[in-house]
Amino acid sequence: MIKSDKKIIIAIDGYSSSGKSTLAKEIAKILNYKYIDSGAMYRAVTLFALRNNLIQNHEVNEKKLHELIDKIHINFKLNPENKRQETYLNNENVEEEIRKMEVSNNVSFISKIGFVRKKMVRFQQEMGSEKGIVMDGRDIGTVVFPNAELKIFMNAKAEVRAERRYLELKENNVEVSFEEILENVKKRDHIDETRDESPLKRAHDSVELDNSNLNRQEQLDWIIGLVKERIN
Ligand code: DC
Repeated sequence: MIKSDKKIIIAIDGYSSSGKSTLAKEIAKILNYKYIDSGAMYRAVTLFALRNNLIQNHEVNEKKLHELIDKIHINFKLNPENKRQETYLNNENVEEEIRKMEVSNNVSFISKIGFVRKKMVRFQQEMGSEKGIVMDGRDIGTVVFPNAELKIFMNAKAEVRAERRYLELKENNVEVSFEEILENVKKRDHIDETRDESPLKRAHDSVELDNSNLNRQEQLDWIIGLVKERIN
């Protein structure tokens, strides 16, 4: 563990399946910081929309979602058994359900809606008000915490990211083909980069990490070096 009286905000943005959450969780543990997966929040809203039949053929019933948005309450609780932060939607643990393909295939249609983003961003900023937080997502360094002390922008080749995601899902016994995953990764990249609301882009003051050829330890050593520069 690294000890320092100075607490900072670490914003980790980047493409889907670029390894943001693995790195974010590991550095949060070392620093004894809170880790927040902002993508899980957009996934939880997507699950809510799917359950309420608000998404049909990739079209979101925005009017109805807007009416219901204040009925969506998302929070995170630490599971004492596996020591992981799990996502709750209106007090129900949805951690597993939000990782399923149906949610992955629809989340971009929800995360491009302005009023959804506004609500999520406000909540994310509240969670970071006392610093000592690592948050990963797409707009954390650009919109949520533009003053974060450390901003990382992560990337890796689409094929490498799809392979990682494929292995992860296979491990969790999810039946899916590599081609399907690769297509989903590329489609999400395109939507994330071209949407009007907070498109995925590198913050000018972020540090870029392409981890196509780096293992976990190499990435961790790299970020620890950057953290030390900022807290000492
Ligand atoms: O990181 P992830 O794949 O779980 O994110 C799910 C989706 O949510 C992804 O399509 C991008 C979107 N997202 C976003 O728009 N802004 C964030 N801060 C985090 C995720």
